Amino acid sequence: MNTLWKANPGPQEKVLSIDDSVYEILYGGSRGGGKSDAGVVWMLKGTVDPSFTGLVIRRNHTDLRQWLDRARQLYKNAKFTGKPTVIEFPNGSKVYTGHLKDQDAFSQFQGWSVQRLLLEEAGQIPREEDYLKLISSVRSTNTIKPQIFLTANPGGPGHQWLLRRFKIGDRKPNVAFKDTISGRYRIYCPATIFDNPKLMEADPQYVEYLKSLPSPLKEAWLEGRWDIFAGQYFKEFDPAYHVMEVEDAKKLGYGNDNNNRYIGIDWGYAAPHAAIFMEVTHKNRVFVFDEIYGKELHPMELGEKINKKCQGISIDMSLGDPSMWTRNPMSWRAEHASMYSDATIAHSMKGNSDQPLVPNLVPANNDRVNGWRNMAQLMKVTDEPPNFIIIKGCAPNLLRTIPEQICDEKKPEDLDTTLEDHAVDACRYGLAHLDVPGEPKERKSKDQIKYESLLHPEPESFNYDWRD
Ligand SMILES: Nc1ncnc2c1ncn2[C@@H]1O[C@H](COP(=O)(O)OP(=O)(O)OP(=O)(O)O)[C@@H](O)[C@H]1O
Ligand SMILES: [Mg+2]
Repeated sequence: MNTLWKANPGPQEKVLSIDDSVYEILYGGSRGGGKSDAGVVWMLKGTVDPSFTGLVIRRNHTDLRQWLDRARQLYKNAKFTGKPTVIEFPNGSKVYTGHLKDQDAFSQFQGWSVQRLLLEEAGQIPREEDYLKLISSVRSTNTIKPQIFLTANPGGPGHQWLLRRFKIGDRKPNVAFKDTISGRYRIYCPATIFDNPKLMEADPQYVEYLKSLPSPLKEAWLEGRWDIFAGQYFKEFDPAYHVMEVEDAKKLGYGNDNNNRYIGIDWGYAAPHAAIFMEVTHKNRVFVFDEIYGKELHPMELGEKINKKCQGISIDMSLGDPSMWTRNPMSWRAEHASMYSDATIAHSMKGNSDQPLVPNLVPANNDRVNGWRNMAQLMKVTDEPPNFIIIKGCAPNLLRTIPEQICDEKKPEDLDTTLEDHAVDACRYGLAHLDVPGEPKERKSKDQIKYESLLHPEPESFNYDWRD
């Protein structure tokens, strides 16, 4: 009998021998390591049960077509029909296919029941939240235990959440670990192109191409390294350096009366809203000292929340996303409801003379590219303490999302707008308007003035009389 396909010895063989006690498998690493081929074959393992249903998802239509071409070669007995394609095996088991270009891409499979989900190029999914929506369809109604197989290369928009979810670098690869919340097992299996002799033989030039890539893309795509993040925008940001205990920050000027204070605000209703509180010292050192982050608040409610946080501190200026000044009736609330207003978001947030809410709210400069450059510049690491510091524990969402930002593929000096960027946007708005205060004047107590006058007495006052 002819063998249609045989796993490459090493990682590919290993990943295909993982049993069904593991719920999520990430086969990730360098380009050309044989991940996609492994995925095609992994799915086939489920089809032994006639009632089996599988689902394959790729980023877009073209990518899916490529996967289907390979599947046609390896699923010799199956029938491929429909749009999107459904693959039916002679025993009745089925594999559905889909892609993520549609509007409701991530929720379109909710309510489905599939036993195996193959998520190709999972690193293209920017948010873990979306991934969680997708996997809600994976459950078993037959003898096949549910399992998810992800393939990914480092450096995509989903780099950070994959790194966290599969504890890459924290846990030993190729060893399953139990997620404490779900109680299910996950495993990360690395792959490199050197594990795929088939490609090395067929196209030796491909390795040469990977070797010729500039750093850090070369490390990501040739070596499959996750610790080097090819597309990361804020490369200089390092929590070990930019996050500081409040006591240490005070030694660098945090909390001085003389500092100027600002709030940057990004508005969102269904998407999160963010308010970032910051102050700047006369040495141009910025401290982020508070944050509001959430969803589904009326602008007035957000205004009230901000107002509460401002009690006892003087805010020089609040800078909002300029689109908050566009007339935007709150039509999501019934017109008769008490919160109903046809005022702009900014207007509602400001409050009125009876109840002022957000202090000194004005539209922020929305020059994105210069704004990001300004932020990255502040993060620059030199011998001095950094100029951008987050007070420990004060802005968890900003801290979480700064390292997740990647460059836009088409416009690398800008950020990819598909990511969770609300906190960084709010931060950018504030930073674009910082006015560095003058050097603080030393305040002297009465006793000190008296004491100093004894040490350096004023010269005697003279009196001149010009007349003889
Ligand atoms: N065991 C195998 N037997 C025969 N051919 C294989 C095998 N594994 C991989 N290949 C072939 O090697 C080439 C690269 O493999 P594959 O596309 O699976 O890599 P990949 O890791 O998914 O790459 P990328 O990171 O670019 O998506 C493909 O032509 C694939 O068909
Ligand atoms: Mg692939």
